[in-house]
Amino acid sequence: MLKIDRKEEQGVSRRQVLVGTSVFAAGAALGSLGGMIRPAHASEPAMKKWPWPYRKLDPARTAEIAYNEWYRVFCGAAVINAVFSQLKETVGEPYASFPADAFVFLEGGQLGWGTICGSAAGANIVANLIIGPRITGATEGHEIGADVMQWYSETELPTYTPKKPKITATLPTTISDSPLCHISVGRWMKAANKPLKSKERKDRCARVAASTAYHLVELLNRWKDGDYEASSDFSCAKENGITGQYNCMDCHGDNVPQPPMPKA
Ligand code: HEC
Repeated sequence: MLKIDRKEEQGVSRRQVLVGTSVFAAGAALGSLGGMIRPAHASEPAMKKWPWPYRKLDPARTAEIAYNEWYRVFCGAAVINAVFSQLKETVGEPYASFPADAFVFLEGGQLGWGTICGSAAGANIVANLIIGPRITGATEGHEIGADVMQWYSETELPTYTPKKPKITATLPTTISDSPLCHISVGRWMKAANKPLKSKERKDRCARVAASTAYHLVELLNRWKDGDYEASSDFSCAKENGITGQYNCMDCHGDNVPQPPMPKA
């Protein structure tokens, strides 16, 4: 049922794109006749025309770039740059103008506050910039973002081992059960018994950025091929009446509070 809806939405959004194009053509043709009809989005910059042109990328190559970029701009900007730096070469605009380095602030779960992991945030930024925001009618950017959040929470991370790792010791992998930097990094540090400033923890986070970039590109490539199907079924706000994550008991123990719910 859901799948059919998504296909339909996809169809609608493609049709909207086509209609938009023909309005533009008609407007351009009529413009010279009297200037009465103005094309709807004639002056929209390339950055606001979705989807952005996408050429399939090699996940391993993308992961390798993300790994190395982590040591320059940290998790969030590393994931964004891993994808956009390649598309800047193969496609050009709007990637060439996009200031991905500005997203360094995603480090440490945003400025060290341990909220969403920057790798997951970066992946959401990439998917939503390429595919476009949900309000345009294309839902796959949101869906890929949600899939990354769920994958990130449920997967033994890191999954990717760099070709030329900066440290050779085998790093433990952990399941965070959460997209929060604080919990993800904390659980890993506990398993590895390594402090935040250790080179092992840093390399772990660089590899998590690489792993996330790898998975993101797998999903984007599937979307490009028309084979993408959303896998995340997380809808906390709807089901639980509060925004959040699925691991309520992690923080609340057995006493998960019940938010006020609308009367049936
Ligand atoms: C990352 C930790 C964390 C997770 C995960 C989490 N919560 Fe909370 N939640 C909190 C904290 C901390 C508070 C504030 C508690 C307080 O003020 O006493 C809170 C507050 C709430 C409140 C407000 C009412 C109250 O009694 O404080 C509700 C309702 C709630 N949580 C429900 C949930 C549900 C349902 C889930 C899972 C879907 C969830 N929480 C997951 C940490 C978490």
